[in-house]
Amino acid sequence: MRVAVIGSGGREHALVWRLLGDGCEVFCLPGSAAIAGSLAVRADDDDSIVAKVLELAIDLVVIGPEAPLQRGLADRLRSHGLAVVGPDRKGAQLEASKAFAKQFMDKHAVATARYRQARGHDQALALLGDFGDGVVVKFDGLAAGKGVIVCADQHQAEQAVAQLCANYGQDAELVLEERLRGREVSVLALVDGKRALLLPTAQDHKRLRDNDCGPNTGGMGAICPVPWCTPARLAAIDAAIVQPTLRGLQAEGIDYRGVLYFGIIETATGPKLLEYNARFGDPETQAVLPQVGGNFSELLLATARGDLAGLQAQLLPGFSVALVVAAHGYPERVRKNDLISGLDDVETPVFHAGTRHSGTDWYSHGGRLLAVLGQGQSLQAAQQQAYTAAAKIHIADGQLRTDIGNGSLAKRAAVLFSGRGSNLAALLQATQDGPLQGLLDIVLAVTNQPQAGGIAVAEHFGVAVAVVPSKGLDRQLHDRQLLTLLADADIDCVLLAGYMRVLTPTFVQAFARRIVNIHPADTQLHQGLHGYQWAWEQRLQKTKITVHLVDEGLDTGTILAQAEVDLSGAQALDQVEALGLNAEHALYARAVAGWLLERD
Ligand code: AMP
Ligand code: GLY
Repeated sequence: MRVAVIGSGGREHALVWRLLGDGCEVFCLPGSAAIAGSLAVRADDDDSIVAKVLELAIDLVVIGPEAPLQRGLADRLRSHGLAVVGPDRKGAQLEASKAFAKQFMDKHAVATARYRQARGHDQALALLGDFGDGVVVKFDGLAAGKGVIVCADQHQAEQAVAQLCANYGQDAELVLEERLRGREVSVLALVDGKRALLLPTAQDHKRLRDNDCGPNTGGMGAICPVPWCTPARLAAIDAAIVQPTLRGLQAEGIDYRGVLYFGIIETATGPKLLEYNARFGDPETQAVLPQVGGNFSELLLATARGDLAGLQAQLLPGFSVALVVAAHGYPERVRKNDLISGLDDVETPVFHAGTRHSGTDWYSHGGRLLAVLGQGQSLQAAQQQAYTAAAKIHIADGQLRTDIGNGSLAKRAAVLFSGRGSNLAALLQATQDGPLQGLLDIVLAVTNQPQAGGIAVAEHFGVAVAVVPSKGLDRQLHDRQLLTLLADADIDCVLLAGYMRVLTPTFVQAFARRIVNIHPADTQLHQGLHGYQWAWEQRLQKTKITVHLVDEGLDTGTILAQAEVDLSGAQALDQVEALGLNAEHALYARAVAGWLLERD
């Protein structure tokens, strides 16, 4: 197959690399010195691009960047009967205009954040009151990642409106949006007009510096697949976002044939769509394509022909990590012409973006320079390979995040218990095939009771058990022993599952806002032990169970989730307990998952 890839960056380099691997004959317009089959042409000269593609007798054209899509390059190529991956101008509006996209989502019931549209400074300020403290202010048009400001309070929001109006005009079209909390995931789909074929999930890292600090960028690195985006979560994304979008495209008469990128935030109450892109993501593509097995070019051709029925993308085992190396000053004031050395020593693929070749050397020529690929059976192994490779590359004052993928690693947890461990079992099960999969790794089960039934539960799941008897020990001393144990195991958070002791302030402070408990009552109505006995003695028809953070008070911490338990059928206290425990097992994992997703 003869394929033309339009574009010149890291995404296009990865596409060309993947298509060559499929045995295609590939041309890249305009490409770059690093990309095989590059043909010089002005990137914004559609006449020349169309003429070149026709002259080359191309079977398939894949358009990388958003600008040519918005100009209508796909429409022009199709008018010559060519097979094209890339939407027409109308479809490209889903990315080019945030207002268009939000209207589309609303109209077609795509799960998304609540929003209002505003023209100009004064209207925007007047509408800010419709939102609480968390609001996101967005410029309507393409802004290369600089048109979105996430605000923590009204004052910041006012400043954001002023700033965007200063940058884009006093009459700028703005979108105000409810600020959502959660983890982000990018889902890239091949859309053939009727169907969507989902590629493996990816996660970008938009901020310049480690721990998501610093300014927004085009993306400083990506991983694929995203461990916590389980098949169940992906199915929910498909149902709440992808399928309504497909129905909307049909209803609007948009014959979308190309890549549709869903920028999603997974909240405690399910996935919400933040944005569409009308193309492959960059740097997601550099991490996703190495994870797709089989013949990718056939999938792209089927996309262009409206013929994806029955096809699926094959997800290869393991993980990919793509690390972006950026130039000094990126994203604000990029410095060019720095020598990039060491590339020959790198054994894994390196995709070039803003580089320039001169003689035998490479120089910086743009903001994002390279994406260095690492692969491995685990996410950690892929990270290690990528970072080992990147360490061989040298450029003066180059910028590289050292934590790409860290946020997607499961959090290491210890569960504390005193009894038979039924909640411990439910939590462990949920890490294997339930809502905690990919989010939480229970590495240690700790009990104060040498006879506790939960010990066998932990052993059954292959989890390390520590018995720290509390009998006769001073509380301070006991908790200090626990803290040493947890520190040695590098524990991030502690879950209490029928742990019959009150933690000391020292312990609570050491794990501030990282200890979760499940309480067999409404914490506002009944504190302390024996919640079910209390409900039974009160002859309650209904009671509540509560999952909450543990602070220094007695059951006074932030409530994460509650569930109601119907007790009307209970004839005895043990029946109340059985009904309650059943509800606990279902609620606990779900509540912890929601907390982990939305936690900073
Ligand atoms: P966008 O260009 O729309 O993808 O926005 C850029 C980034 O801003 C996203 O990747 C999010 O990190 C953040 N963002 C956008 N909209 C929201 C929202 N409604 N709530 C929270 N964060 C958001
Ligand atoms: N990585 C985000 C984008 O391609 O827009």
